[in-house]
Amino acid sequence: MLYSEKVMDHFEHPRNVGEIADADAIGQVGNPKCGDIMRMYLKIENGIIVDAKFKTFGCGSAIATSSMATELIKGKSVEEALRLTNAAVAEALDGLPAYKMHCSVLAEEAIKAALADYYRRQGLPVPESCKFSEEEGGGCACGA
Ligand code: FES
Repeated sequence: MLYSEKVMDHFEHPRNVGEIADADAIGQVGNPKCGDIMRMYLKIENGIIVDAKFKTFGCGSAIATSSMATELIKGKSVEEALRLTNAAVAEALDGLPAYKMHCSVLAEEAIKAALADYYRRQGLPVPESCKFSEEEGGGCACGA
């Protein structure tokens, strides 16, 4: 089986799909090569992520990792969410095929882009840890 049961489950029944109308932070990243786009909406109260929703126009691995990533950051502090890596998201899904690991980068970057937006809206300096590859155009390096 190419994909783990968890990947298939999150692909077929993604959690937290949608938008948050009064989001405190929105981040969007995309990969110009494969055209996959992920948009992340966060509701943040007293530094805690109380809700997270996403819309992903992309491959199954991108959808599954978005779903798992939102599950992992809900209830976490902004600082904890910033430490979430794509490898941790993939691990929580019992792994991804090696050539699909890059798809999980979109989830990490979408969260970081949203948190950068949060800091900006608060009038605070954006921490270095938010800055992934925004300057490089974001997105995965799947080469699709
Ligand atoms: Fe999966 Fe680009 S994010 S193919």
